[in-house]
Amino acid sequence: MDTGPRYWILETDRSAYTFGINAQGLLVHAYWGQRRPAGDYPLPAESTGWASFNGPAQILPEEYPAYGGMGFHEPCLKATFVDGVRDVLLEFVSGASVENGVDIHLRDAHYPLLVTLRYRVHPRYDLIERWAEITNPGSQPVLLERVFSAQWHVPAGRSYHLSHLTGRWNDEFHLVREPLTTGVKVLESRRITSSHHHNPWFRLDDGSATETAGEVWFGGLQWSGNWKLAAEVTNFETTRTSLGINDWDFAWKLSPGETFITPAAIAGYTPDGFGAASRILHDFIRAELLPHGQVLHKVLYNSWEATLFAVDEQSQARLAEMSAEMGVELFVVDDGWFHRRNHDAAGLGDWRPDQSKFPDGLGPLIHTVNRLGMDFGLWIEPEMVNPDSDLYRAHPDWILHYPTRVPTLARNQMILNLARADVQEYLIETIDRLLVENNISFIKWDMNRNASEPGWPGAPGDPREVWVRYVQGLYRVWGELRRRHPSVVWQSCSGGGGRADLGILRYADQVWPSDNTHALARLQIQHGFSQAYPANIMEAWVTDAGREQIPLAFRFHVSMCGCLGIGGNLPSWSAGERSEAAHWIARYKDLRGVIQQGDQYRVAENAIQYLSKDRSRGVLIAFGRPGAPVEVRLRGLEPDWLYSIEGFESQKSGAEWMVGGAALPLANLESTLREIIALTGR
Ligand code: DGJ
Repeated sequence: MDTGPRYWILETDRSAYTFGINAQGLLVHAYWGQRRPAGDYPLPAESTGWASFNGPAQILPEEYPAYGGMGFHEPCLKATFVDGVRDVLLEFVSGASVENGVDIHLRDAHYPLLVTLRYRVHPRYDLIERWAEITNPGSQPVLLERVFSAQWHVPAGRSYHLSHLTGRWNDEFHLVREPLTTGVKVLESRRITSSHHHNPWFRLDDGSATETAGEVWFGGLQWSGNWKLAAEVTNFETTRTSLGINDWDFAWKLSPGETFITPAAIAGYTPDGFGAASRILHDFIRAELLPHGQVLHKVLYNSWEATLFAVDEQSQARLAEMSAEMGVELFVVDDGWFHRRNHDAAGLGDWRPDQSKFPDGLGPLIHTVNRLGMDFGLWIEPEMVNPDSDLYRAHPDWILHYPTRVPTLARNQMILNLARADVQEYLIETIDRLLVENNISFIKWDMNRNASEPGWPGAPGDPREVWVRYVQGLYRVWGELRRRHPSVVWQSCSGGGGRADLGILRYADQVWPSDNTHALARLQIQHGFSQAYPANIMEAWVTDAGREQIPLAFRFHVSMCGCLGIGGNLPSWSAGERSEAAHWIARYKDLRGVIQQGDQYRVAENAIQYLSKDRSRGVLIAFGRPGAPVEVRLRGLEPDWLYSIEGFESQKSGAEWMVGGAALPLANLESTLREIIALTGR
């Protein structure tokens, strides 16, 4: 019998998350909200029922409910034992304090099955990170059918609004906020990537929170494959959000001695509204997830929209010269550079320069780019093959497929089975060779379709493990390449924002949020993206989309809200346009430290303010849109410091700018960028 602690308080700087073992031995959530004086936290509720139809599982907020007994709500764990029993009954074994958290050990009452719940606290971000580990210490396999990372309980007795990000290719990151009513709202991906359609991020509030005030609970999943969020409002006025690997078409044969480790979920609490919740995630991502979160990203040029597949040494060299003249620092050759890649029906898999386009390899172009003072970057799509490729001809068995089905083509391509160790090895060696043989500073890693026929002939365990093992394989390949080439900057792209998630951000330094580069569409996309993700991972190009309608300055200002890039067909730009571009690029270089690394405030529907961490310098970018006058109250300034804002004659205290605000009269499609400078108090 365990005699150790039975109640745990996980405190961050401003919040607390508590749970404990109740008298009946269940692991029950007790509190998540503002930090309180010690002793003021509620104890876990005791087990009760509701007539003969609902047992404790319906009433109590269990930390990690398993499917068993009279459990009718969304469980975190579902398994079948070798004798066919599909009932998991978890008992508390022990809880152990570890650095920054606690590990809770549970076991099944009868079968050899161990569950460890690991909680880690990130005090200065007010975040709790947690995941589960399921171990089979027995001699028979156990079939896991659902293994979520976490169930998060928000205070009972209130109703909530769920905010989430939804969309589709070319139209990602729409922010939706909707009331939750009794039942289960499911958001998920079944596509093998986290997907354009829903993003593994959530936010809950009781309907009264705003950008600047109110209690908010929020979080996400560190996983780049199939995922599921189930936000459930019970008939007992409780709300819970389960989050983890999607159990749709999931199974895992847990062999004797094996442990299944879920990805980590992360969630936080703030009493200060949506903006504060976003800034917490931004800070956490920059400091804790990204491999080089504090590096300032370079202004890049990308060839895709200018040349599509018509890439060759001469045309790229010309673009490089024009880019360098404008102040671009990184020149990226997109799709079309490799063997027989003249259209999307051939070449994927054969990662060597096309002889007719680059007769002497990439070396001469890279040399030109470097001579012009720029770094060189390259596009790859390593997870894919075209049927018309040497790789596919040599290894037709390497793709996801069922032998009796014709593989569905999408964009004329098929997906390599990254669950296979030989495929992983091939990719590591191939990309490694590219990086060893060429002076490449930046890789854009693309992924342009979702899975079909997810078969893995000869799979060692349950064939449905492929969804998870694929992502583990992807992480292994990317992690190994990062280890071998630590200074390379990597961008995650999946036809735009199809793989932007907290999992990929341990491997990728940046994300390409959308293939839609029209500035007006981008404003919406970037607004949604900013709810969860920081400006320093958001690549944003100025292209020719909307060129006739939208002023160049407006298009630059939109892209300057993240990591500025250029993607237009430069030979068609006038000398005047190129010189204006050079002006904005220089301006961006001066301000990017504040934009990429500062605090971000969505100060109006069409205005964003960035502020350096020491509050001494800021940037205000605002856009004129029909019916949306821009009146901004600045935020985050030191109240008694004196600040000037570019374009305003008067100098005012931080308090005055924040209370009185500033009017920016902008006509439709006009935009403005203003630097904010602290004159005193630095
Ligand atoms: C999809 C990407 O999102 C685009 O930017 C471009 O790289 C194309 N793929 C190239 O095929």
